[in-house]
Formats: sequence, C-alpha cells, structure tokens
Amino acid sequence: MEMGSFAYCFLFFLMCSNAFPAFLATPEEVFALMHFKRSSIDSDPKGFLQNWTVGGSNSRSNPCLWTGVVCSAADGRVRSLNLGNMGLTGRLNLEHLMALPRLRDLDLHGNFFYGNLSYSNTASSLLCGFETVDLSSNSFNETIPSEFLTSCPRLVSLNLSRNSIPGGIFPFGASVRRIDLSRNRISDHGLLKYSLSSCSGLSYLNFSDNKLAGKLGDVPSCTNLTILDLSYNHLSGDLSGVDFGVCGSITVLDLSYNGLNGTALPLSLANCRQLEELNLSGNNFTSKIPSFWKNFSNLQRLSLAHSRFSGEFHPSWVTHVGLWWSSTSLGMASPVACHRRSSHALRSRLWTSGKTISRAISSIKSSVLCLL
Ligand SMILES: *[C@@H]1O[C@H](CO)[C@@H](O)[C@H](O)[C@H]1NC(C)=O
Ligand SMILES: *[C@@H]1O[C@H](CO)[C@@H](O)[C@H](O)[C@H]1NC(C)=O
Ligand SMILES: *[C@@H]1O[C@H](CO)[C@@H](O)[C@H](O)[C@H]1NC(C)=O
Ligand SMILES: *[C@@H]1O[C@H](CO)[C@@H](O)[C@H](O)[C@H]1NC(C)=O
Ligand SMILES: *[C@@H]1O[C@H](CO)[C@@H](O)[C@H](O)[C@H]1NC(C)=O
Ligand SMILES: *[C@@H]1O[C@H](CO)[C@@H](O)[C@H](O)[C@H]1NC(C)=O
Ligand SMILES: *[C@@H]1O[C@H](CO)[C@@H](O)[C@H](O)[C@H]1NC(C)=O
Ligand SMILES: *[C@@H]1O[C@H](CO)[C@@H](O)[C@H](O)[C@H]1NC(C)=O
Ligand SMILES: *[C@@H]1O[C@H](CO)[C@@H](O)[C@H](O)[C@H]1NC(C)=O
Ligand SMILES: *[C@@H]1O[C@H](CO)[C@@H](O)[C@H](O)[C@H]1NC(C)=O
Repeated sequence: MEMGSFAYCFLFFLMCSNAFPAFLATPEEVFALMHFKRSSIDSDPKGFLQNWTVGGSNSRSNPCLWTGVVCSAADGRVRSLNLGNMGLTGRLNLEHLMALPRLRDLDLHGNFFYGNLSYSNTASSLLCGFETVDLSSNSFNETIPSEFLTSCPRLVSLNLSRNSIPGGIFPFGASVRRIDLSRNRISDHGLLKYSLSSCSGLSYLNFSDNKLAGKLGDVPSCTNLTILDLSYNHLSGDLSGVDFGVCGSITVLDLSYNGLNGTALPLSLANCRQLEELNLSGNNFTSKIPSFWKNFSNLQRLSLAHSRFSGEFHPSWVTHVGLWWSSTSLGMASPVACHRRSSHALRSRLWTSGKTISRAISSIKSSVLCLL
C-alpha cells in the first residue's frame, strides 16, 4: 500500500469510527508504529507483532494494547517499546520510532536487527525523546554514523553491547550517563578517544572485549566517570604517562587483559580516592608492585595477577584491605608470608588471580606476601 493511502485509510478509520475515544495514542503514533513494523521488521518468527493491526474491532486498533507497547497512564501516549528477545529480524529504521514524540524507553535487545543506525535528514530535525535505548545483543555490524542519536537531548543510557560494531564516532549530549559498548569489535580508537574527551556527565563507560589498540588517552575531563571498563582489548604502551586527572569519582577501573606496560603506575591514579576496585591483571607491567595504595581508603578489590609485577607486596601498604590469595596461581607451594593488621580492618580482598581464593590473611604469620 502506498504510504499516502495507508495514512488516509488509517486517519479515516480513526476519525470516522467510534474507536477514537477508546484510546489516546494519536493517529500519528499509530502510523509511526505501523510504519516501523512494515519497514524495520522482515521476520517475526514467533508472531509477537501479529496483533499490531489497524481496523477491525476497537480494541485491536488500540496500540496501547499491542504487544510490547506501553502507554503513559497520564496522557495515554506511547511511552515505551519493549520488544526484547522476540527473534525479530530487519534493518532498523530509527526515524519511525523517533517520530513518537513521547517515546522514552526503547528496548530492542536480543533480536537480529542490523543496519548502520543512520536516519534520514528529515528525521534528524525531529527532537527525539529517548531516555534509555537498549539495542544490545543484535546484529549491528556497521560503523555508527556521527548523526546517531544526536538529536536526543534526554538520552541517559545507551546499550549497544554484544553486537559487531567496528567503530564510529557519535557525539552524545551532556544528558548521557551510561554507555555500554562491550563485546563488539571496535578497533577504531577514535570512539574511545571521543568518549573519554567529551564525557561531561558520563558515569558508566564499558568498552570491555573489543579490539581497541594503541595508547590509552588521558581521562582528565571525565569528572563524573564512576565506572570505566576497558578490559580485554589490545591497548598497549606505557600507562605511567596517562593522566587520570582529578578522577574524584572513579570507583571501578578495569584495565585487565590488555598489553599495557610501564615501569610505574601513573601518579595521577592516586587521585582516584574513591577507587573500590582496580584490576590491572593480564598486562605487561615490568614494574615493582606500586606502594601508594594507602591513598585508596575505599579499595576493596585489587587484581594484580599475570601482569609481571615484581617485588614484594607489603601488607602495610594496604592496612585497610584484606589480603587473600590463591597460592597455586602465584606459582608457589604456599604463600611466602603475610601479615595481618587488626581483623576488623579486613573489609575486603586482594585478588591475586581470578581463581579461587584459598585462605584468609588472618591465618598467616609473617610479614610479606610475594607476588611472583
Ligand atoms: C496482543 O498480544 C498481547 C500478548 O499476547 C496481549 O497481551 C494483548 O492483549 C494483545 N492485544 C490485542 C489488542 O489483542
Ligand atoms: C546507511 O544505510 C543507508 C541505507 O542502506 C544508506 O543509504 C546510507 O548511505 C548508509 N549510511 C552510512 C553512513 O553508511
Ligand atoms: C547491556 O545489555 C547487556 C545484554 O543485554 C546486559 O547484560 C548489560 O547489563 C547491559 N548493560 C548495562 C550497562 O545495563
Ligand atoms: C553485516 O551483516 C550483513 C548481514 O549478515 C552482511 O551482509 C554485511 O556484509 C555485513 N557488513 C559488514 C560491514 O560486515
Ligand atoms: C562490562 O561489560 C562486560 C561484557 O558485557 C561485562 O561482563 C562487565 O561486567 C561490564 N563491566 C562492568 C564494570 O559493568
Ligand atoms: C556530575 O555529577 C554531579 C552530581 O551528580 C551533577 O550535579 C553534575 O551536573 C554532573 N556533571 C555533569 C557535567 O553532568
Ligand atoms: C611498552 O610497550 C611498547 C609497545 O607496546 C614498547 O615500545 C615499549 O618499549 C614498552 N615499554 C616497556 C617499558 O616495556
Ligand atoms: C609483553 O611484552 C613482551 C615483550 O615485550 C611481549 O613479547 C608480550 O607479547 C607482551 N605480552 C602482552 C600480554 O602484551
Ligand atoms: C597520598 O595522599 C597524601 C595525602 O593524603 C599525599 O600527600 C600524597 O602525595 C598522596 N600520594 C600520591 C602518590 O599522590
Ligand atoms: C578484575 O578484578 C576484579 C576484582 O579484583 C573483578 O571483579 C573483575 O571481574 C575483574 N575483571 C575481569 C575482566 O576479569
């Protein structure tokens, strides 16, 4: 059916039938949803969207009763779309969803949507109202274009995890707090660089399990960054020169399983006073185990395994951190030694490997634990 005649029939149906009082979603919203269904969904193997139909009985034409469509109780307008894990396939056309002015939460995770996430110029003049967008576990495999979601001034959370996205730079506004890009195949360092330099309000950034190579840039402008996960990439080079800035908010920093090296950890890391979890495992530090842990008064979990750190770890450096270890992972028959401060101070753990933790420090008598 031609779009025009489709709209005409549809509007006719709404205006001229008694169906109208049954719901408040506007004809434009119904039109946008139908348009989305027709243009973005090639396959719906389980028939989840079978009841997205117009015409027929009154209730069947009320989009607020369609599978996955949630309307606001306050104004009856389409507020969220929850089409997760439905096995839907198709090239996603975001512009039809952006035409839903009150759509706040878009959840399409666990489907087989693909495409390049661009939308036409006419649509980009729309002011989209998305707050959370979950496109995780789909089949997106193209570079994200720079116009992606630029006109969504309310966007708070974006999940693109578990796709095959190779890269792209998409400017995100000051409203964005959480970005999950983990488990893609991002090799384009520009996206990481952009994310770490334009991160004004960003609190959660996850690039874990991608193909990022090269040096890690500075992160001084990310004053609100709380969780930064860059584990399982190919980042390399000397970490000691990286500027973590004031980093007053970081609680979780995971740099594990990269190729980072350096003869010292960056001094600026000591500014991260809120740090609760630091993972430097699986890197190539040929340095002595750093000694400035005293400055991390909230540190609860510290992973230094398989990173070629040398030297001794003095428990006095982490008097407030409980020390636990797996002796086998250290390549020793038993831990050389360790020392316990007051037991009430043992709030947490030192992880020497991802393996099973065997014994508490309180059972160890002498004063130094060697990590080999
Ligand atoms: C559409 O299907 C869903 C799920 O089976 C059901 O809850 C809803 O009532 C149906 N809506 C209509 C209009 O039939
Ligand atoms: C995205 O895909 C559309 C439709 O195939 C195409 O017209 C457009 O040029 C593509 N944009 C980019 C940036 O690849
Ligand atoms: C993103 O989606 C994945 C898979 O659906 C989920 O496991 C993960 O927790 C989500 N990330 C965030 C930050 O919510
Ligand atoms: C993305 O996936 C589609 C469908 O599987 C495929 O035809 C296309 O070549 C892929 N594009 C890239 C850039 O890998
Ligand atoms: C980052 O993403 C990975 C893979 O999705 C997940 O396992 C990990 O828990 C996430 N990291 C944080 C700190 O949430
Ligand atoms: C950073 O967080 C604080 C406290 O939550 C908030 O007031 C401030 O607006 C945030 N900064 C930005 C740039 O969003
Ligand atoms: C660190 O790695 C880079 C390449 O990744 C290498 O050029 C440099 O020599 C290494 N530095 C040290 C101290 O091992
Ligand atoms: C560590 O460095 C050595 C020598 O510079 C190199 O052969 C090895 O591949 C590096 N390991 C990792 C995990 O980057
Ligand atoms: C640790 O904190 C003390 C003050 O609490 C400060 O003087 C010292 O410079 C800090 N250490 C580092 C390495 O920043
Ligand atoms: C890094 O270590 C922390 C605990 O020290 C752990 O919670 C986290 O899962 C580890 N990350 C990876 C990628 O193994």
